[in-house]
Amino acid sequence: MRPALAERMRGCSRSSLLSTIAASLIALLTQSASADPALGLPPLEALQKDPSAAARVELGRRLFMDRRLSHNGTMSCGMCHVPEQGFTTNEMATAIGIEGRSLRRNAPTVLNVAFQPMLFHDGRETSLERQAWSPLLAVDEMGNASRAAVVARVSGLADYSSAFARVFPGAGINEDTIAVALASYERTLIAANSRFDLWLFSGEGSALTARERSGLELFRGKAGCTACHHFSERAALFTDHLFHNTGVGWARANAVSRTISVPLGGGQTAEVSSAEMTALFGGDLHDDGRFEVTRQLRDRWAYKTPSLRNVALTAPYMHDGSLATLREVIEFYDRGGIDNPGKDPLLQPLHLSLDEKQALEAFLRALTGETVGQLAAEARAAFHATGAR
Ligand code: HEC
Ligand code: HEC
Repeated sequence: MRPALAERMRGCSRSSLLSTIAASLIALLTQSASADPALGLPPLEALQKDPSAAARVELGRRLFMDRRLSHNGTMSCGMCHVPEQGFTTNEMATAIGIEGRSLRRNAPTVLNVAFQPMLFHDGRETSLERQAWSPLLAVDEMGNASRAAVVARVSGLADYSSAFARVFPGAGINEDTIAVALASYERTLIAANSRFDLWLFSGEGSALTARERSGLELFRGKAGCTACHHFSERAALFTDHLFHNTGVGWARANAVSRTISVPLGGGQTAEVSSAEMTALFGGDLHDDGRFEVTRQLRDRWAYKTPSLRNVALTAPYMHDGSLATLREVIEFYDRGGIDNPGKDPLLQPLHLSLDEKQALEAFLRALTGETVGQLAAEARAAFHATGAR
């Protein structure tokens, strides 16, 4: 490990003249590395080495943004994973699908999803190719009756037949190629090289402010965040790829009644109780978390540790979107999560001062990748290129 990096990893807050000089030298020597949009992420080679990747990605991007992929032509992947909203939906705690149907969970960002070995808040899926069929077929998401129906719909759209024939010679439009195109695109949604990455991995001493640096010290020190939002000296995904009970799911399950804001259009919303919601739409809002996958009692109300990259852009937070701001999340951890019989013992009250809470938040806001604007612009351009607007 480079000496300056070793020091950063140790969390040495004593800044000596020597380490400052070393940091500047490393910054000079690694200037080309800091132009790497994936700085701070583990290597991901599969896609880059494939010469036909660019055309496949372009096709996947169009499919992702195309509302015609839903049963009634109203809903695209990009309407819940909104490019300009951190590839999630900032206005809604839990996603709203086709014909206003309410989903039980918050739409996670698809930024850096290539690095997620387990998909969904409960980790029930492991392949992006297979995952894509879940929203396409879910009655409350894109509402298609079957895979064959989707293949038939895409085959009927003139603008896709020549593109698929070019990208998938001999195969054309089928269940596999639709999923492969979508997944190929999703794997390019790489957003790293944040100011944190420049500071830790490129040694740019001025990339983080003093306040952000003290936030980082709290993050991996007193506040104990790295116990679950793990990172190493080689890469930072800010997750242990495990599932934990923080109390959010337990609280939701035990709430006597909760209300959901339903958008009525024209900026209007209505407050509806979950019971009314279930009666109206028949949706099952019940949620046991990881337990639904493993059937192990200890996994009840445990959810995947999300990556915190780009977290400033991906509000609201937690699997049910119940915390609206980063400040609310920090207050939540300061209280030690929500007590319940299965709560992870790693969560204990922190007793942070106001200053410490602000520093922690400032640090979380330094995790925004440099490519997010460009990725959103590319997605929006693809949307305008589709036949449906
Ligand atoms: C109606 C809103 C909606 C639509 C449309 C939608 N999604 Fe999602 N997406 C969600 C929600 C909600 C989740 C989390 C569900 C869960 O955990 O059970 C999710 C999860 C995901 C994940 C897992 C991310 C992770 O980190 O675990 C991926 C990948 C994804 N969606 C891709 C897509 C693709 C591709 C499409 C289009 C084919 C799509 N989504 C359409 C709402 C939506
Ligand atoms: C015991 C493991 C654990 C610890 C310790 C922990 N987290 Fe988390 N964190 C999680 C899990 C699990 C979730 C997802 C909970 C859910 O979806 O309901 C989460 C969610 C979050 C989110 C919301 C992200 C999103 O996209 O919704 C933020 C922000 C966050 N944690 C920050 C922190 C900070 C800051 C600390 C330290 C004060 C911390 N976490 C400590 C496990 C942990």
